[in-house]
Amino acid sequence: MEYFHGYNETEFKRLIHQAEFLSFKVFEHVHFKPGTVLLEPGCGVGAQTRVMLRRFPDLRIIAVDLSESAIKTAEAGFPDDLRDRVEFHCADIFNFNPPQAVDGVFLCWMLEHISEPVPLIKRLIEFIKPGGFFMATEVQNNSLQIYPPQAMLEKYWNAYNALQQSIGGDPFVGLKIPAYLHEAAAEKIESVKARPGMFLNDNRDPEALEKMLDYWLNLLESARGSLENKGLIDHGFFENMKKHVQEVAKSKRGLFSYTFIQTLAILRN
Ligand SMILES: C[S@@+](CC[C@H](N)C(=O)[O-])C[C@H]1O[C@@H](n2cnc3c(N)ncnc32)[C@H](O)[C@@H]1O
Repeated sequence: MEYFHGYNETEFKRLIHQAEFLSFKVFEHVHFKPGTVLLEPGCGVGAQTRVMLRRFPDLRIIAVDLSESAIKTAEAGFPDDLRDRVEFHCADIFNFNPPQAVDGVFLCWMLEHISEPVPLIKRLIEFIKPGGFFMATEVQNNSLQIYPPQAMLEKYWNAYNALQQSIGGDPFVGLKIPAYLHEAAAEKIESVKARPGMFLNDNRDPEALEKMLDYWLNLLESARGSLENKGLIDHGFFENMKKHVQEVAKSKRGLFSYTFIQTLAILRN
């Protein structure tokens, strides 16, 4: 499936910044036991991989991505002190067999790019040891709220989500994952919990609001080429929208909120 953010240096840098910038919320409730071996499909340039290896000093990760350029970038730029706890593989996760059974599978911003999530989840659960876990942190793009309302942003966001759907992805996949897990492997699962991870920035801290809006504009811009090439957004639209969105940080009642969904399934022993 087409990756609509593109595989290029700007996108690779964006992924590294994104993982670090959002990590306080993404990993707020994540605890891996010492000695955990993780499979991380769709690791991209290893942005979450680095964050996890730093947070959990005993963790080992088998990281896999379809993109050769992403894996080469991950390997070339990986911090020396973390290298011996990760192995990178360039492969389509639908054809990849990890070298060992793992304690857990960790997916982040990945299932949104998969047109058939249930067969993939079924396959990934086969690789997990009894009593292990499956964790997915995924988008729920209809949770975006920005005040004052931004008509241009709304138009762009609708086009962004429509484009992702048109190439087989799902920008609203987050809340569907518990049901997908049930469909894929109910007999192997002990429990499933889905929790919302909410970002909320407002004018109580205008600087933090501005930083969040900048991050968000970067994310939106990563799909700009695809949207413009497909004629979904006119040239010049993005720059104009950007000015309006930046005004939100200066507005008296300016507000940004987005909620992702983090699902944790524990397997039976
Ligand atoms: C939005 S990026 C997220 C990367 C990383 N998880 C992060 O948070 O920085 C999604 C990644 O999934 C990868 N991907 C999509 N389909 C895949 C597949 N079938 N097998 C392996 N990787 C895949 C893409 O190449 C891309 O690098």
